[in-house]
Amino acid sequence: MARITASVYTSHVPAIGAALDLGKTGEPYWQPVFKGYEASKQWMKDNKPDVIFLVFNDHATAFSLEMIPTFAIGTAAEYQPADEGWGPRPVPRVQGHPELASHIAQSVIQQDFDLTIVNRMDVDHGLTVPLSLMCGQPEAWPCPVIPFAVNVVQYPVPSGRRCLNLGKAIRKAIESYDEDLNVHIWGTGGMSHQLQGPRAGLINKAFDNAFLDRMIADPEGQAAVPHIDYVREAGSEGIELVMWLIARGAMADLAGGPAPRVKHRFYHVPASNTAVGHLILEN
Ligand code: DHB
Ligand code: FE
Repeated sequence: MARITASVYTSHVPAIGAALDLGKTGEPYWQPVFKGYEASKQWMKDNKPDVIFLVFNDHATAFSLEMIPTFAIGTAAEYQPADEGWGPRPVPRVQGHPELASHIAQSVIQQDFDLTIVNRMDVDHGLTVPLSLMCGQPEAWPCPVIPFAVNVVQYPVPSGRRCLNLGKAIRKAIESYDEDLNVHIWGTGGMSHQLQGPRAGLINKAFDNAFLDRMIADPEGQAAVPHIDYVREAGSEGIELVMWLIARGAMADLAGGPAPRVKHRFYHVPASNTAVGHLILEN
């Protein structure tokens, strides 16, 4: 059977992608950010998954105000890097896993979660920057990726509780897939940031570090935090953090297994307007 061996959590700051693509990773501003992912890139090589289930948000790139799915699963064979205004990032195309994705859609919808099935979607920085941070600049990404898009842009957004429970359903779905696959589940976005309005530039280190603590040790407690607390404490775009709870909900301890091992933890400010946070948890 397929099994989830690890979860990865990371911010997706678009300027990080630009720094990589433009060869600026050695600049003093960016050096500490990329240093925080050195161990992660090695870990990816040592623990290469067969499939990554990648929870991210689209930033009005593939979707728009015309159509706003709360949860959308990509069942396509391939996804192109999106043009977000400066041309597509020079990164590999993303290969999907239509068979596993379709199985997850079937199982999760039958567990009473409403998913939108997406067969065509260009993927923006929300998906490509986490891949770049974890995999560097390869000719091809190391394995197929199932994109799972969450609406955290247009209100109403899903609650933390719903995200955690969805993660539990995704775990059941993956573990009922009849092929011996090593699956990683990634939760991306965040940490604290606000990109517009009078509070633009807001960063809350205390909130972010407490969030990282609770992602490790108290995900059920974190899931009880209402969306308005994220917005108030972590800024309007800090709400991206609820997506981490989907990946966390898929870990073994929430299905009666042992607590996850913390393989890596990293936090850094600044990177563009955003606090960068990163965790690797192993089952
Ligand atoms: C920034 C961060 C984001 O999460 C995003 O989607 C766009 C921009 C930033 O910090 O600049
Ligand atoms: Fe974002």
